[in-house]
Formats: sequence, C-alpha cells, structure tokens
Amino acid sequence: MPKPRATPPAEGTPPAEGARPLLLNPVLERQGAYPLLRLDGRRKQLEEGGRETFDFGTGDPREPTDEAIRRALINGVPENSRYPTTAGKGELRGAFAGWMGRRHGVALDPEAEVLPATGSKEAIFHAPLAFLHHSHERRGVAYGTPGYPVYERGTLFAGGEASPVELRRQDRFLLPVEAVDPATTRIVWLNHPHNPTGATATYEYLEGVAAFCREHDILLFSDECYNDLYSGGPPPSILEVTRERTLAFCSLSKRSGMTGYRSAMVAGDPELISALGKLRPSIGVATQSFVQDAATAAWGDDGHVEQRRRIFGEKRELFKRFFDRAGLEYLPTDASFYLWVTVPEAFAGDDEAYAMRLLDEGIVVAPGRSFGTGGEGYVRVALVPGLEECRRAIERWEGLPA
Ligand SMILES: Cc1ncc(COP(=O)(O)O)c(C=O)c1O
Repeated sequence: MPKPRATPPAEGTPPAEGARPLLLNPVLERQGAYPLLRLDGRRKQLEEGGRETFDFGTGDPREPTDEAIRRALINGVPENSRYPTTAGKGELRGAFAGWMGRRHGVALDPEAEVLPATGSKEAIFHAPLAFLHHSHERRGVAYGTPGYPVYERGTLFAGGEASPVELRRQDRFLLPVEAVDPATTRIVWLNHPHNPTGATATYEYLEGVAAFCREHDILLFSDECYNDLYSGGPPPSILEVTRERTLAFCSLSKRSGMTGYRSAMVAGDPELISALGKLRPSIGVATQSFVQDAATAAWGDDGHVEQRRRIFGEKRELFKRFFDRAGLEYLPTDASFYLWVTVPEAFAGDDEAYAMRLLDEGIVVAPGRSFGTGGEGYVRVALVPGLEECRRAIERWEGLPA
C-alpha cells in the first residue's frame, strides 16, 4: 500500500522543533528581498480599486513582434523533435554574422566566433563559470552600479569577487575604468546603451577601456542588448574596437520585441567562444530549434527594427519635451528605451517616495535604488506603454511638483 503523504506545512510556518535547517547556498541567502514590494503592494491595491495604471516600471515593451518572425517560429516547429546543439544552426550563426557586418562593419567567423544563447540574461549569468575558479589569484569582476543585477549574481555564484564601481553623473554614467583594480580583477563588464540610465559610450571611450583590459590581461565583456535601439548616431559595439579576450552579448529581446522567445548571441574572441562552447552543454541552455528559426529571420531583417526605433524615438521625444517643460532633470540620451530622471527637490532625493507619489497618479516607475548603490535619487522611466498611454500618463504627471 502506498504510504499516505504528509500535508506540507503552510508557507511561513517555523520549522518543527528539532528539524534540521535547510542549508542554502549563502549567495542565494544574501540575495535580499525584492526591494519594490511596498510599491507592488500599493499598485495591486490601486488596480483592485479600478484605478488605471501606466506601467513604465519593467523593460518589457508591448509592441507586437514582427509577423515574419512569428511565422518563422511556427513554421519551425518540427514533426520530430530532436535535441538542439549548443552551437546552434549554421543559418542562425550566419544571419547574426550578417547583421554584425551590416550594423557594425565587423566580419565574424560564424563557425568559431559566435554562439547562440537562450536570452542574454542566462549567458551573462553563466559566462563567469567558464573563466573563474577559486584557485585563481584574480577573481574580481568589475561592473557599474547602478546597473543590471545579473553581472553581480553571475559573479558570486561562480565564486568570483564582486567589485561594483559607482557610476556618476559627472562621468555621464560611464564606468571609470581607472577605478578598476588590475591586481584583483579578471573580468570587466560594460553595458551600453545602459540600463537603467540610457547612457551611451563613444568609440573612443570603448578604446580606452579595451586598452586598459589588454594591458592588464583582463577579460572584457560587453552587454549590448540595447545597441540597436537609437534615434541619433548608431552606438558602437566593442567588437568594432577589439575581439581580443573580448565578448559581446547581443539580444533579440529589445531589438526585435522578442523578450518571450529567449534568444541572444555571444560573439568575439574564438578562444573565449570555444571555452563557452565547452561549458554550455553541461548547463543545458541550447536554444530550441524553432526559436533559432525565428531568430534567423529576426537577425536577417532590419526593417522591423527601424520601425521600433521610430516608435521608441517618438515616445522618448514626448517625454523629453514634457521633462523640459516641467523643469525635471534627466540624462539626455537618444538610445535604449529608458530615461533616467532626477528626483525633484520637493521629494528631497527620495526616489522611493517619488515613485510612490507617481503611483498614486497611476504612473509606475522604478526607483533608482532598485538598480543598486548610486541609483538613489533617480527614477527610471521605461518607455513601454503605447504613445497614447504615454500622453495620458504625462497629463497626470504634469500636476506634480518638480
Ligand atoms: C542590461 C541588460 N542586459 C541583459 C538583459 C537581458 O535580456 P534578455 O535575457 O532578454 O536577452 C536585460 C533585460 O532587461 C538588460 O536590461
């Protein structure tokens, strides 16, 4: 007779006396609670009360994915399913290399210098596992703060030492590479156009960082997931400067409106790509074959991206004009889909209080502190809602003190 199952304890129930505590990876335990819970709770309350909200909080735009990409996915569903490979299909690597050539003027060898990833988040998280070990003398990983949190998490889970470098307004939120300690650092992460500030880097800036990394034998990883969303001059890729001990992480999520497909590419130094090729089968992150077909269609076409650039450009201009009118300070940018706004004096630099006040008007923004140290005193506006919703949100925002 099967043994009756015990009823699991209700969530939050303290362990029974004498029960052994569950040992967790301390890195997991250190990942404090989600900092925006208070805002989330208030937002739920408002929505349950029937209040219309405008979500400028998360970076997941609503514009539809191009029809040809959707069709490629559907047509790609095979009759017989087989395991995909880590290297992915040659067509996908070829289509990506074609885009790199058109967009950045960089000729990549699709056999040796390119690997697909299941979204750039997992690739960013996993990459340090291939290059860091506790036996290494240098295990430091430098990245900017405020920033995307995955550089830190990937570092810590791989046994590396997290070395956040504070990004400052006077440096236009570019990582000051002279603050990186070459004696302890093994990897430097860059991210341009930048989340959360929208800051962009010049070719000369990238050259400076690349020269520093070359001189000190530091691996240079560049997260370029917003690189194709711009209204002014096209932002450069690190691969235009160098591919020596360098990797670029490129994603279709924002470029092609494919956040739910999970598709990205890692490209650069063939020695590093080969190391990732050895690591990744153990993790099991080979991209589904039909997603690869959709991705092949996406990298092969620039028309849909031009349309997305135009849409985000219109929203960006709408908000910039409003901020200028209202006397709100923001970091001027013409790339990514973020605007980084200084909290007005009336809120004494308290980004959480300002976000809460905006929420009372139904406007959801992300308080800067949720992106790490250095983010306090700012809020991030993600240009996610449609143009009409942006206009309505601005009407509500207009009445608040600047
Ligand atoms: C800076 C940055 N890098 C990487 C990602 C991950 O993108 P994905 O995993 O969808 O390719 C994001 C997502 O928001 C991001 O903001």
